[in-house]
Order: sequence, then structure tokens, then C-alpha cells
Amino acid sequence: MSRRLLRLALLLVPVAIAVSSCRHGGTRPTVDIGTYLGGQTGLVQAEPVFGAHGMVASNSGLASEAGAEILKQGGNAVDAAVATGFALAVTYPFAGNIGGGGFMNIHMADGRAAAIDYREVAPLAASRDMYVDPATGKLTNKSTLGHLASGVPGSVAGMADALAKYGTMTLAQVMAPAIRLAKDGFEMDSALFRSLRGNKNVLSQFAGKDLFYPGGDAPAPGTRFVQAELAHTLELIAAKGPAGFYEGEVADALVAEEKRGGGIITHEDLKRYKAEWRTPIKSTYRGYTLYTMPPASSGGITMTETMNILETFGPLPKYGTAAYTHLLAEAFRRSFIDRNAKLGDPAFVKVPLEQLTSKAYAKELAGTIDRTHATKTPAFKSGAEPDHTTHYSVADNSGNVVSTTTTLNGGYGSGVWIPKGGFFMNNEMDDFAAQPGSPNMFGLVQGEANAIVPGKRMLSAMAPTIVMDRDGKALLVVGAAGGPRIITTVTQVILNVIEHDMSLGDAMRAPRLHHQSLPDELLVEDGALSPAVSDSLKAFGHTLKRAGGLANANGIMRVKGGWIGVREPRSAGKAVGY
Ligand code: DON
Repeated sequence: MSRRLLRLALLLVPVAIAVSSCRHGGTRPTVDIGTYLGGQTGLVQAEPVFGAHGMVASNSGLASEAGAEILKQGGNAVDAAVATGFALAVTYPFAGNIGGGGFMNIHMADGRAAAIDYREVAPLAASRDMYVDPATGKLTNKSTLGHLASGVPGSVAGMADALAKYGTMTLAQVMAPAIRLAKDGFEMDSALFRSLRGNKNVLSQFAGKDLFYPGGDAPAPGTRFVQAELAHTLELIAAKGPAGFYEGEVADALVAEEKRGGGIITHEDLKRYKAEWRTPIKSTYRGYTLYTMPPASSGGITMTETMNILETFGPLPKYGTAAYTHLLAEAFRRSFIDRNAKLGDPAFVKVPLEQLTSKAYAKELAGTIDRTHATKTPAFKSGAEPDHTTHYSVADNSGNVVSTTTTLNGGYGSGVWIPKGGFFMNNEMDDFAAQPGSPNMFGLVQGEANAIVPGKRMLSAMAPTIVMDRDGKALLVVGAAGGPRIITTVTQVILNVIEHDMSLGDAMRAPRLHHQSLPDELLVEDGALSPAVSDSLKAFGHTLKRAGGLANANGIMRVKGGWIGVREPRSAGKAVGY
């Protein structure tokens, strides 16, 4: 097994464990709690949770409680989202972060819609072929592991900007729960314990070894886990704003560790980092309005393109049939072909957003779909594309909603942990086409539009989305982790609700599918297809492949009298309502 594949296998250990504890049957699988979902989580929490006033759904129970605490204090959904984001950096270091980046999609009850892009950027000293071994011409594993793998982090800038513009509280107020969790510690639960154990070989190569493996092993479930250095960093941010991270002692610690380990992020990189406000992509599907994420994420365009194609077919065949699965796969195939070749950071490449999201274009593409034959994905031309991440959804009493996906890319990012800073760095550089035409960590084959350039944002698949009902009120707040599987999963959760009339709980539990054009195969979760449906799809020409859990979503849905929250049934987390 190559080192890149080995690294990916290690990253996916927690997901694989979670998934191996799930048994799906029809749209109402029974979840075997197994040994994974212990501590703060449990089967009970995989069931929908009701809140009359507000809701937070995330991959960490403690982080969801942090958000709910802020809602109860009178904070709005943005205040609570930022509180949840900082708390995730403490309680869910697998993906929660201040050393990574993300995208936040906001819809205020007064009609204002906004998106903030706090994706990492390539450091100024980055270069196009920095991950290609000059001797062999092959890709090295440096875009995934170690100091060179990191883009300049955006999370602190993005969360602070979002709070300043749409929140009602101060950073110090919303960060108080995160600081408390880092300073006083929290009880190690079995999910974090197992995740740390599964990643020990990688993480022990770096400075986090002493904190995460005191005495050589992860702290046992039930022990109090304190992160003093992280608490100090969070206190500096709470007191000084982004300057507490991008300047001063935290910046010094980050740059010193980069230098020590052969990384290239400098003070100048940190000083220049800016989050960008974007106009969310607004689209419609059978009278519902969707707001989702524009570039530097591919998530919104690719979802919109897919749903526009599907809409042209009138009512879709029933969930679980060969006819439906085939249409879904063929629609995803077409939108991923565009994604992988044409999308990149809009500050560097011209992105054909209007065209790719237009109904007319979708109609054209729909016309190329044969209802009983799979189209083969053509060989990648322009030179193709790209997965740990965490999504959280928040809704408040006034109807404001926030959909946020944030990531370090791989689980615990590059593995590099900043001494004195107390946090992990991302390995987001792997989301670039490090060698256009060669697959990245997620098997995505991407082109020139996503090649490495200093200061450029690497293309993302994150798709934090908000769906409005036919009366213009926020109905669904959903997003996922899982690299390219984010796009296909978010699309399916939404279709399950608005096309197939499922409850949010069923929509989240329903077995999922994934097609990303290349490799030309249809990934299917256990229970997604009956043997007869599988046979039909094979006869249509699809190559079917069994997959463990496809992606990790957290969603909220408006119901009569309040909100329902559902955390990912395939993994750990919690929805907390009040
Ligand atoms: O931005 C992206 O598309 C990826 N860095 C997301 C990675 C991810 O979702 C990993 N989670 N399983």
C-alpha cells in the first residue's frame, strides 16, 4: 500500500469503525450502537431531537451544548454557530479547528442571506510542483502529511468576521464555553479515545504526542482531558480578536514550528489572510429555494447543477429503485465532470457559475441521459479532482439559521500540532490538483483550474446549505463532511425530504450513494439497493462498489412549533435543542 493510501486508510479509521457498527435495512435501519458511540453520544441521540426555540446539531455533544448555552443566553444563530465552532476545536480535534478553514452560510429571518469563505490559501512560497518528486515525477505524500501540507488557516478570521457582522455578542462571550472546555477540561469519551488511538502512529510523529498520548496511549475514557495551551490561545483570540491568532505569540509559535519542521508559512502569510464574504448561490427546486456555497467551494455549483438536471425529469422515480438510482448517478456524473475540470478559486480562474447553475444548461445535460444505459465518463482532459471535516447546523427562536462546514481536511489535518499554540494544522494543500490529472487523497482527478498558485484557495467540496420552504421560511439546514461525498450526501438528504417526503430522521438514515465521475463507479452503502435493483444497475452498465458510511451530515428541519435536529446516524455527535 502506498504511503498516501495508508494515510487515507488511517484517516478513515474512525468513520469505518462508526460505519461498521451500523446495519441498514430499507429507509429505517436499526443502528447497532456497538462499542463506538459511547460517552456523550448514543443511540438515543441518533433519534431526532425537538427544540421549541432553537437547535444545534454537530459531531460533538459538548460543542452542541456550547452553542445551545449561547442560544439560551439570548444569542442568535450566528453567536451560537461561532460558539459551536470554537468548542469543536477543543472537543473534536479530529476536524474541529482553529488551524484549518471552512465555509459558513447564513440566512437571517429578515431575508438577508450571506456566505463567508474562510478557506485556507496557499502560502506565498508555495509552488505548482511542490509535491512532485523531481527525480521520479511522482506525487509525494507531503501534501497530506507534515509541515508542508498546510494552507494558511482561515477559521479564526472567518468566525470573527461572521460574528462581527451578524452576531449580537462579543467574541469573549461566545468563546467562553470553548475556553472553559479547554481550561477545565472535559471527560474523555470513547469516540475521541478510539479516534486518537487509531491515529497514534501519525500523530506521535509530531509535537502533540505528549498531550494526546501521555504515557504512550490516549487518555482513557472517563479521564479529564485538559488543553492548557489551547486555552491560552483561545483566551488571546477572545481578548484581541483575529490579531490574537494572526499576530503576536500564537503567530510566533506557528511560524517557529513551521520553520522547525520544514514548512513554509510565514508571518507575512498570516498577516495577509482575509476571509471573503460571498453571495450564496440561490437556486430553486420544485418551488423550494436553496442557498448554498459558491466557489472557492465547488459544493454549491455541483449540487445545483445536479438538482437542476433531476428537476427536468418531473416527479422522480421512488427512492431505492433502479430508475431513481440511475438518474441520480448520471446527474452526479455530469456535474462532477464539470466540477473537476472547470472549478477553482474565482480570484484566479474564470468560473462559469452562471452557465453551470442555469436551468437551460441542466436541460441540455438531462437530454444526454439514457434511462437504461450508463454513460461512460470520458477520460479526464484538462488536466481532474478531490476529503476530516465537520458540519454543524444552528437555528434560533427568530428563524435565523446558520449552516457551517469546517475542516482540517484529513483527520487531525497534517498531524502537525503547534507547541504553545495547542492546535493541529490542516493538510488542505492536498485539495489542490497537486499534479493536474492525478488523483488526490479522495481519488478526485482535477485540472489546471485548481493548480497550486501562491495566495490561491484550493477548491473545496463543502456544501453548507439552507433550504427555504415555499413560503420563504427556513426549512432545512444541512451540510456534511466527506470530501466529494459531501456534495452527493447533502443532495440526497435534501431530495429525501422534499422529493421523497421523508422525515429528517429517515432522510439522514436512508442509505446513500456516491458517484464522482472518476473513478467511474457507483459507491453504495449497505442496504441501499436490493439484489434485483443492483442487477438492473449492472445491466445498465454501472460498476457498483460497496462503501462504508458515505459522509457525515448534521441537519435541522423546521417543524410545527419548533425545530428537529438530527446528528449523523453513522457517527458520533449530538443534536441539542431547547
Ligand atoms: O474542502 C474539502 O472538500 C475537503 N477538504 C473536505 C474534507 C473532508 O470532508 C474530510 N472528511 N471526511
